[in-house]
Amino acid sequence: EGTVPIPSPPGLPFLGNIKDINPELPLESFINMADKYGPIYKLNFPGRSMIFVANQELVNEVCDEKRFGKTIGAVLGQVRNGVHDGLFTARNEEPNWGIAHRVLMPAFGPTKIQSMFDDMHDIAAQLAMKWARHGPSAPIHVADDFTRLTLDTLALCAMDYRFNSYYHDDMHPFIEAMGDFLIASGNRSRRPPLPSFFYREADEKYNQDIAMLRDTAEDVLKSRKANPTDRKDLLTAMLDGVDSKTGQKLSDSSIIDNLITFLIAGHETTSGLLSFAFYQLLKHPEAYRKAQEEVDTVIGEGPIKVEHMGKLTYLAAILRETLRLCATIPAFGVGALEDTIIGGKYFIPKGHDVSLLLAKSQLDPAVFGETAKDFIPERMLDDNFERLNKEFPNCWKPFGNGMRACIGRPFAWQEALLVMAMLLQNFNFMFDDPNYNLKIKQTLTIKPKDFFMRASLRHGIT
Ligand code: HEM
Repeated sequence: EGTVPIPSPPGLPFLGNIKDINPELPLESFINMADKYGPIYKLNFPGRSMIFVANQELVNEVCDEKRFGKTIGAVLGQVRNGVHDGLFTARNEEPNWGIAHRVLMPAFGPTKIQSMFDDMHDIAAQLAMKWARHGPSAPIHVADDFTRLTLDTLALCAMDYRFNSYYHDDMHPFIEAMGDFLIASGNRSRRPPLPSFFYREADEKYNQDIAMLRDTAEDVLKSRKANPTDRKDLLTAMLDGVDSKTGQKLSDSSIIDNLITFLIAGHETTSGLLSFAFYQLLKHPEAYRKAQEEVDTVIGEGPIKVEHMGKLTYLAAILRETLRLCATIPAFGVGALEDTIIGGKYFIPKGHDVSLLLAKSQLDPAVFGETAKDFIPERMLDDNFERLNKEFPNCWKPFGNGMRACIGRPFAWQEALLVMAMLLQNFNFMFDDPNYNLKIKQTLTIKPKDFFMRASLRHGIT
């Protein structure tokens, strides 16, 4: 009663809207459909349908945790083959989520993150050194080098493990296995249900990759148990932590699940953020100038210290504005806890998934006005940011929602601020191809495609 059907593009018999999705870049199709069908629409696929919400008002409504909760969609369902009920892929009701969440939250508290600063600095300095050595005429593959940075940072800070990615053209076998595992998880979520022998080869490789991930994490765990340390890293937190509610500790297999989870969840997202941020700086010379000026004023030519981080307010605004325009996780899913109606007229049955299309809702003109698509860091300066979130709750959601929001946010934030500051302090950057226009590569996350820049030293490395 009083409901209207959710707009939906016409589809084919049986296949529904499958052909309407660009398999290389599903995000683009989802955005185009929001442009065409409005802030809520529904796609039909064999055996399931997907509802998208694409403006602040509807996103805000489905962020209400009394009515909607995180769901594990098709792709995350596949990722569970590797990491089971680890933090990211656990269902809300699975006990291991609560145990790991309570044990790990303190490990991401402000003083713990600050204590990781030196390790983050170590890896960032290696990147600066590499770019300095390659010299001003070498094209830098931005997303690749930031991915080396974020992986090495995470492995060092989480478990005192060095991938040393900068010293290899090929990525470490663990990293290759992780990349292939994620791509295969995406593919598996879309493949037609043929008998398993059609997929035998792919499945064998998939299982080998999973074994590689788990064996490596298990080795790290065993060697830590054999050589205890007083390092306060995430592995220590997982080994020592006792859940305040159940009195339980994390099992070995849960620790392995979560070690791999951190590497997966924490590397592409942060490397994408840094890559998009540098793209935006090069496209917006005025913002670039202000950013460099802030670094020169706050830090100068001396060493970067953890105390500087909170003072880099313009850099923080750049990161926020970058994540608004280019959320590296461009959509996430929730499900209705009961039959419900959203937007005053659209019926959502209990259990049905709703995708929050950040790539569209974070550009809502009702919130950001006529300049919604433009890169304007000033609107994200602390006071403005606070005001926006108060007036338009959930207009900026790149770290997810509620109790299932990103646990790694302070980690990513400190790392991204430090890396930007160090690079702006030491280099002048320019596009390798001055005519480059943003193209997107989509896996589980998005990053700029074929984006190269060049770096020339401003003065000696500090
Ligand atoms: C969850 C984004 C960095 C670990 C999430 C979610 C988002 C997100 C959107 C929620 C996903 C959902 O609802 O399905 C990001 C972005 C990052 C970032 C944009 C960087 C800019 C990190 C880092 C780590 C991390 C560095 C690890 C150190 C996690 C974990 C979860 C999560 C474990 C699951 C939390 C839970 O459900 O309890 N992240 N993330 N993330 N993220 Fe991040």
